[in-house]
Amino acid sequence: MKQRIAFIGAGKMAAALISCIYNKKLAKSIIASDKSNENLNRIKKYLKIVTTTDNREAIKNSDIVFVCVKPQDMDNVLNEIRNAAGDYLVVSIAAGIKLKHLESKLKNKRIIRVMPNINCLAGEMAAGFSANRRATKQDIKNVSELLNSAGIAFLVKENLLDAVTAISGSGPAFFAYFIGAFAEAGIKNGLPKDIAFKLACQTALGTGKLLMEKNLIPEEMIGMVASKKGTTIAGLRILKKHKVKDILIKTIDAAVKRSEELGK
Ligand SMILES: NC(=O)c1ccc[n+]([C@@H]2O[C@H](COP(=O)([O-])OP(=O)(O)OC[C@H]3O[C@@H](n4cnc5c(N)ncnc54)[C@H](OP(=O)(O)O)[C@@H]3O)[C@@H](O)[C@H]2O)c1
Repeated sequence: MKQRIAFIGAGKMAAALISCIYNKKLAKSIIASDKSNENLNRIKKYLKIVTTTDNREAIKNSDIVFVCVKPQDMDNVLNEIRNAAGDYLVVSIAAGIKLKHLESKLKNKRIIRVMPNINCLAGEMAAGFSANRRATKQDIKNVSELLNSAGIAFLVKENLLDAVTAISGSGPAFFAYFIGAFAEAGIKNGLPKDIAFKLACQTALGTGKLLMEKNLIPEEMIGMVASKKGTTIAGLRILKKHKVKDILIKTIDAAVKRSEELGK
């Protein structure tokens, strides 16, 4: 059954989620609330949804309430909605705010915590989410369907959200770094800037797509590209010589560690 969905905080992430859910007609109704009308009017230009600047008004008659404000604004919103009547599921997308904290503010509520990523803005989100003990199987199914409309999302134990944060939360920045380096090398070797950039982006996009669509492991894909004494082998030799794999694993480990520290 389609749900009535409210969004509190109508910034970048909320707008992207709303647009995916709206375009795939997954909600019975959508209402968005924000402190100011600026973001709300921007969303209303493209999508026919109801908006308000009153968070409690948004919650009233909603089945699922997505809280999409910055972590530092979370407590204000939680304090505001904690006594709002209604049997709604709360979904927080705020980075680093644990279920335990959400539960301490929202007594007896069904809660789901999501770690989304910025690629949500392109409808290609990679996310992880965890549910508290009160959340039902149906809640998990409903939220999973909504999140999957904006990309892919996996239910994981909450302690694994630090690894999710490192791989898919910070990951877009790491991949952007590689794309930047590929593009720079292309320019150095004579390609015009926009062509080098687009070739690098499209290659990253296509590689991920092919791996997923054909269910390949990375080694199989490498084998499909590299031929004896060819160009790929020449490049791979440099990656191996400089132990780039070890560096990348250390990169993710550092991000996991930082996420754990921030969550304390
Ligand atoms: N962006 C990312 O890459 C990313 C990745 C993973 C997770 N997240 C999480 O997603 C959440 C939203 O991020 P975002 O980038 O979409 O932020 P954003 O663009 O700043 O949007 C947040 C919106 O919430 C509004 N707001 C603040 N306090 C409010 C209140 N009390 N009631 C109603 N609205 C309120 C803000 O208004 P003002 O601007 O006027 O304060 C702003 O319009 C964050 O918690 C973040 O940790 C973001």
